[in-house]
Amino acid sequence: MSRFASAKSETDKQNTDSQISDTLIYNLNIIDCGPQCGKSAVAFTNGVISWIGNSDDRQQSSVRAKDEIDAEGQWLSPGLIDCHTHLVYGGHRAAEFALKLEGASYEEISRKGGGIVSTVKATRNLSESALVACSQPRLQSLLAEGVTTVEIKSGYGLDLNNEIKMLRVARQLGKDTPVTIRTSFLGAHALPPEFKDKDEFIQHLIDIVMPQVQKEGLADAVDFFCEGIGFSRSQCEKICKEAVKLGLPIKGHVEQLSNLNGATLIAEYNGLSADHLEHLHKDDIPTLKTAGVVAVLLPGAFYSLSETKLPPIQAMRDHQLPMAIASDLNPGSSPIASLLNIMNLACVQYKLTPEEVLRGVTCHAARALGLEKSIGEIKVGMNADALLWPIDTPAQLCYGMNLVKPSRIYKNGIQVNV
Ligand code: NIG
Ligand code: FE
Repeated sequence: MSRFASAKSETDKQNTDSQISDTLIYNLNIIDCGPQCGKSAVAFTNGVISWIGNSDDRQQSSVRAKDEIDAEGQWLSPGLIDCHTHLVYGGHRAAEFALKLEGASYEEISRKGGGIVSTVKATRNLSESALVACSQPRLQSLLAEGVTTVEIKSGYGLDLNNEIKMLRVARQLGKDTPVTIRTSFLGAHALPPEFKDKDEFIQHLIDIVMPQVQKEGLADAVDFFCEGIGFSRSQCEKICKEAVKLGLPIKGHVEQLSNLNGATLIAEYNGLSADHLEHLHKDDIPTLKTAGVVAVLLPGAFYSLSETKLPPIQAMRDHQLPMAIASDLNPGSSPIASLLNIMNLACVQYKLTPEEVLRGVTCHAARALGLEKSIGEIKVGMNADALLWPIDTPAQLCYGMNLVKPSRIYKNGIQVNV
């Protein structure tokens, strides 16, 4: 199974420094979506998971480590992955919240110049360093509950300099914090005030902004908002074509408030994920499945916008469409800086099982980012992004809010102090 376990007969030779792991954790239960459930000891070497076995066999297998930890029956999970956030932004939208409570809809607020465009103003007003400073606490909140990979979108800059600023801030956060950051360019998020025509704005993104973003290596994927208050399917398709030209994978905000057939567009371009999906038609699910598109469910937005139309979850389940769960952390539709709370919402509102939700924030989320070969599972050869939880059963991670935190967080095999 691993170079340690398979070399049992060469015990003496194994007592060399090169074969001593960095960390060995034993007496644990493993929460996993891979085939190796139920093992009870792991070793990390040079940032990767180098051995998985039974606690009692570790001496026989000559697994030694500089740091050997008795987990006393705690549970080990992969590091959590938040695969859809708008974590970098300026200001807040508390005033808009009051309007919503009085009955105004997200679309009404947006059409009156509030919503995304009001956050664009606040984000444009901040310097790069100020934007790092106000975004960092949100990232810290996620990290403290065990989120070791976060996707961050642009989309509150909406001009060349401000989109680049947002993406640089996201990259900077990844340098300052032991969290892997993946960025998505979301220029096609809303029409900025200086443009009156959506087609002209899309052309501007294609001619000027996207090539520069790509030249500076600032985006790992391209996203869009396919919606009445966002952009039409054909406008989003232009963005997809440019993404293909630039060699960037595609994701999209689709069928959130209505159905514009955005999900099938993502399938046509073999995108990584189709996100939101409240208004997805059941008939489109096989198309997504065949194209390898992950459904990213965002129950925080459903909750915060008091939506009533649920995504077709049972049909997704029936077709074994991989379902990821993410926070959608943003100042408007999902002001929730907690993936653990979102996991609870996914169970309570979307009726997903705790097992489905755990896969949704680990292996399926990894796939939604194209990272399934390196993160999202406790498996030999994967990055040692792992969490120890002081719980009796994995369902404890989902059944309440703010009741549990990981007792240890490992990022690339190194323990993180939060
Ligand atoms: O995922 N739907 C579009 N974009 C975000 C909301 C952004 C905002 O309201 O600021 C979302 O819900
Ligand atoms: Fe979003």
